[in-house]
Amino acid sequence: MTAEKPIIEFEGVGIRFGSLQVHHDLNFRIFPGENVTLLGPSGVGKTLILKMIAGLLRPTSGRVLVRGEDLSNLEEEELCAVRAHIGMVFQGAALFDSLTVYENIAYPLRERGLKSEDQIRQIVAERLEVIGLPGIEKKLPSELSGGQKKRVGLARALASSPEIMLFDEPTTGLDPTAIRLIDELIVKLQNQYSITSVAVTHDIQSAGRISQRWLLIHAGTVVADGPAKQIAAQNQDVIDFISGNWRGEITLT
Ligand SMILES: Nc1ncnc2c1ncn2[C@@H]1O[C@H](COP(=O)(O)OP(=O)(O)O)[C@@H](O)[C@H]1O
Ligand SMILES: [Mg+2]
Repeated sequence: MTAEKPIIEFEGVGIRFGSLQVHHDLNFRIFPGENVTLLGPSGVGKTLILKMIAGLLRPTSGRVLVRGEDLSNLEEEELCAVRAHIGMVFQGAALFDSLTVYENIAYPLRERGLKSEDQIRQIVAERLEVIGLPGIEKKLPSELSGGQKKRVGLARALASSPEIMLFDEPTTGLDPTAIRLIDELIVKLQNQYSITSVAVTHDIQSAGRISQRWLLIHAGTVVADGPAKQIAAQNQDVIDFISGNWRGEITLT
């Protein structure tokens, strides 16, 4: 047991859309500095979990706490304050095509209005350095490869120095070499900025590279939660589960 407080906590969380009960009882705690991947077949509700962490969606039942605050008690303004600590790279998250790389990365900083143009320039340059694409401020997204665009998306999510990063299928659509580069970059960010991260990926190799802990989501609940190595070693069911081929029961602890 650790004395440290969880940075993210789900207590009996359920979410329903009309008659569709997607989640009914999600329970987990994530501690500062942990890197977790959510695994499960398509449509199981992984993106919804990330959206609830970001306070973009309220659960129908249960509680979601981020940095000790129960999000359901917060007004929109207070939610924005919580979101300031969260960097999000959402599924298919596109850059603004008509804006330069500079303007894209500066966007969240401008929105917050706390930084001078000089500070913004410095931050953008530093983030581009970190993602290994220094000096591309003036380029337009159309001049970048798919992998480069994803890296700029990461730089944008990092712009406001978040404590928590949410990655929703950050490498979908990339070739294996580009995937590996993004994974290595995610690991570098986790270490360099001591970030807590929650990722969703269908790529088991990626999941192993970018996280030490896996949560398997099925039928509206967490069916397995533990060290990645342990879960992967349990049996072939897990691999089938992740790739969406799985039809049986999983009883891991
Ligand atoms: N705003 C919404 N309204 C109605 N149904 C939704 C909404 N958002 C998600 N869903 C449904 O919730 C389920 C889980 O969605 P999602 O979290 O996107 O799954 P995953 O990311 O695991 O593929 C899907 O069946 C989806 O259609
Ligand atoms: Mg999704």
